[in-house]
Amino acid sequence: MQNNSNTYEPAEDTFFLEDYIKNQKGQCALEIGTGSGYLTKILEKNFDFVVGTDIDFSAISRQTAKIQNGICCTGADALTKQFDFIVCNLPYLPSEEIEDRTVDGGKEGLEIPVQIIKSAKYRLKSGGKMLYLTSTLANYKKLLEQTELLGFDVKILAKKKLFFEELLVVQADLLV
Ligand SMILES: C[S@@+](CC[C@H](N)C(=O)[O-])C[C@H]1O[C@@H](n2cnc3c(N)ncnc32)[C@H](O)[C@@H]1O
Repeated sequence: MQNNSNTYEPAEDTFFLEDYIKNQKGQCALEIGTGSGYLTKILEKNFDFVVGTDIDFSAISRQTAKIQNGICCTGADALTKQFDFIVCNLPYLPSEEIEDRTVDGGKEGLEIPVQIIKSAKYRLKSGGKMLYLTSTLANYKKLLEQTELLGFDVKILAKKKLFFEELLVVQADLLV
């Protein structure tokens, strides 16, 4: 869902992903694509240090849930810190162009997700874990393959059927 400020308001996918991050604990966590800040705020309860990034500056500056550390950048590209845990509610809709960055994932719903996962890989500690949300509307099988090729052990943690799609929470453990 989108409002006038181009911030993605927490929706069904956000709340589904919340169920799988609320019990995660550790030192440092990162949310890529923080949007309203809803999920980053949840991470702040259980991690000592939390960062939320977003490609859209207006989303960060107008957050309803004010997060402690918001950074405007692509993926995790502006960061040098290593994290134990990274989460991303991916923009996964297949699209020819990226017109709405809150939801458009590019061709097959893969281009932006792969870019984000690549960027996350270099910010994960060895043995670190990433959770991301995608959908059957995207070529999710190819996304899982690409994630494996990037050096992750990948499994589908949970599925949720909606009207026209199934949401998937994917766990990707960095192997090196
Ligand atoms: C589906 S929304 C999720 C928002 C929020 N995390 C939630 O779960 O409600 C995807 C978010 O990712 C951001 N985004 C899109 N492409 C990005 C990229 N390459 N790097 C960082 N953030 C990106 C969008 O601006 C948007 O806020």
